[in-house]
Amino acid sequence: MGHATCVLPAIREQCRELLITDKQSREMMTRLLHELNQGLGKKTHDESVVKCFVTYVQDLPNGKERGKFLALDLGGTNFRVLIITLAENHFDMQSKIYAIPQSIMVGSGTSLFDHIAECLSNFMKENDVYKERLPLGFTFSFPLKQLGLTKGMLERWTKGFKCSGVVGEDVVQLLKDAIARRGDVQIDVCAILNDTTGTLMSCAWKNHNCRIGLIVGTGSNACYVEKTKNAELFDGISTKDDVLVNTEWGAFGDNGALDFVRTEYDREVDSSSINPGKQIQEKMISGMYMGELVRLALVRFTKEGLLFGGIGSDLLYRKGNFYTKYVSEIESDKKGDYMNCRDVMDELGLPHATDQDCANVRFICECVSMRAAHLVSAGIATLINKMGEPHVTVGIDGSVYRFHPHFHDLMVERISQLVTPGIKFDLMLSEDGSGRGAALVAAVACRQQ
Ligand code: GLC
Repeated sequence: MGHATCVLPAIREQCRELLITDKQSREMMTRLLHELNQGLGKKTHDESVVKCFVTYVQDLPNGKERGKFLALDLGGTNFRVLIITLAENHFDMQSKIYAIPQSIMVGSGTSLFDHIAECLSNFMKENDVYKERLPLGFTFSFPLKQLGLTKGMLERWTKGFKCSGVVGEDVVQLLKDAIARRGDVQIDVCAILNDTTGTLMSCAWKNHNCRIGLIVGTGSNACYVEKTKNAELFDGISTKDDVLVNTEWGAFGDNGALDFVRTEYDREVDSSSINPGKQIQEKMISGMYMGELVRLALVRFTKEGLLFGGIGSDLLYRKGNFYTKYVSEIESDKKGDYMNCRDVMDELGLPHATDQDCANVRFICECVSMRAAHLVSAGIATLINKMGEPHVTVGIDGSVYRFHPHFHDLMVERISQLVTPGIKFDLMLSEDGSGRGAALVAAVACRQQ
């Protein structure tokens, strides 16, 4: 074994600003709780940053849901169409991924929904359900001001989307219109939901303590079970005690509440994004930005002569070239071994990276991903403490949580420090919430009709 290579003290020192102390986590929790209450309150909602949208999902699945459902899943890296059959204790699923070209992501709303309708129609043909009229659940993972289970106005686009003519419109109607324009298939939209809601439902199907759905993927967001009486925006009369609330906590910090922990990398990622000033917390956590945060730190340290002998590369200097999956890969290297890290360095045109450089690169990745895990943990602890239940399971999905080698453990550790003593919690990977969750929400909705 060679001798362990150490991280440069100068880099260690400059990365301290990426650490979130326990005390800072607690400060964040106080602020987030305040923002959540602002979002829930009728008088404060309009001015609030963390919107806490009412989802109108009030029943968790009881395992008795049955039937055949279609689901659409828009809002991650891919667009998917699914057909899901729920049966006793198991379910069956066929799905297909369709690319959403960049031109459509930032084009007109009409082309987006025409594209969705076309994919749906093709999928129905291929799966021989072309002549049926099936119930459909639409997982639409953006901030939606919902007025019911099948009515939701887009508040704003997030992540990489920016289609014209959709903000303020009822997205279910836009989907129905696009399907009607084609006129070749029939569907019955039973529910529109957020991916966090789907994740919660999907986890709750098997696990009766599940009260939170979390996504740490392209974006980051959470939903949880709230008392209906606290969800003051609930439109209509409810006889049920609880309702799921989609926090849209990615927007936490849009009013400066996170400035006390932001760094120059965060400000740069934000100002060069398609939605400057928006989704501040999301930009510190999620997969769409994590790699870029690391890249900016690498660029800075290279220019200071602390990395790669001061010699960078065109690839390193170009925005977006350090993928978030690199962070997971590099941190998956065994201690003292830099196999994956070397591959990444080669891909970035940095074959001259030394072992010392690799140790530094890995350290920077660790700081950025640990910060994300700690931010998410403060949020989860806030929700757990707010609900006050003795035992809560958190259903989680998303590429960062799924593929990062330490994210889960980092979260367990930090949440344990932050939850009210006596409360138990566990974190569970929720398999395919956006697909199966959509079917479950649709099924629960059909059950009621
Ligand atoms: C973004 C969206 C939110 C979604 C999250 C995860 O934050 O605004 O609705 O849940 O990404 O996909």
